[in-house]
Amino acid sequence: MKIIGIETSCDETAVALCIDGEIIASKISSQDIHSKYGGVIPELASREHERILNLIIHKTLQESKIDLLELDGIAVTQGPGLSGALIAGTSFAKGLALGLKIPIIGVNHLEAHIFANFLAEPNLNFPFVCLLVSGGHTQLWQVNDFRNYNLLGETRDDAAGEAFDKGARILGLGYPGGPEIEKLAIDGDHKTIDFPRALIEKNNFEFSFSGLKTSLLYYMEKNNKDSIKNIAASYQFAIIDVLVKKLKFAAEFSNCTNCVVAGGVAANKFLRKYSKDQITNRKIIFPHPSFCTDNAAMIAFLGEKYLLIGKKSNLNFSIEPNMRLS
Ligand code: KG4
Ligand code: ZN
Repeated sequence: MKIIGIETSCDETAVALCIDGEIIASKISSQDIHSKYGGVIPELASREHERILNLIIHKTLQESKIDLLELDGIAVTQGPGLSGALIAGTSFAKGLALGLKIPIIGVNHLEAHIFANFLAEPNLNFPFVCLLVSGGHTQLWQVNDFRNYNLLGETRDDAAGEAFDKGARILGLGYPGGPEIEKLAIDGDHKTIDFPRALIEKNNFEFSFSGLKTSLLYYMEKNNKDSIKNIAASYQFAIIDVLVKKLKFAAEFSNCTNCVVAGGVAANKFLRKYSKDQITNRKIIFPHPSFCTDNAAMIAFLGEKYLLIGKKSNLNFSIEPNMRLS
């Protein structure tokens, strides 16, 4: 099937073409406009999606040498995400589906993040455990099969990506904070400061990062002359140490040999290395870095899976800003 995927849940306008499970093209336009505000401004994000979506779709098809009329279906992010941003993407997708008289499927962004791992590892077998770490979510899933997922635990407060973003703001860095902290941390010593790790006891699958952020704030008030590289490295280590320990517990608890990591934070190179160093008796899988942060390849890929089993959405489906995975 020739499926076009559209992702507009936050500040990336993304379009991808998937043909029979293979990503032929994937385009992402990141909205730099938000960086000066230190976070995403929802109204600006929706306007920007509206402004460039048509252009990106045409570019994607043109470069893939596929005509609009050849498309078999449209996959679009239904939620979770910013309401206005989701409306911009789904309205465009609905108009296209109506005009072309082809099916449309609303896709769960979180499920799509998990399935991006099949693009890296097409022979990935169920069951597996998944650490889903993005800007809005930090969850541990036992993925038994397609559409059969058990939530083992999630964050009680901030998500891991949010901890990076808020930490970066405290350190006076730009947005998004994850790549900024990662860059500084490369030349820092992660053992300099022992930032707190919450809920770290064995077989506790919940997370909490709000205390860590506060502890960074207090630290900076008292020790603002310390090397910022060491602070960034220690802060990053405090987040990643918890993520990896809990992924390890979850893999042992669920007896899964495959561990996958998904979402924007999965792009972090320290997380990629540290998880493989610490979990030596399981296979650890990460998507390609460009398919960790928000992208439409994962939406098109998962959308095709649903369309192939006959699932599609009605043209009047609603966005779900708080959509959960169950
Ligand atoms: O999945 P994603 O692109 O958007 C959401 O669905 O939320 O994740 C964005 C989050 C941001 O919080 C960003 O700071 C974080 O992922 N992130 C990273 C890295 N790249 C993006 N965190 C740590 N290291 C990175 N290299
Ligand atoms: Zn995402």
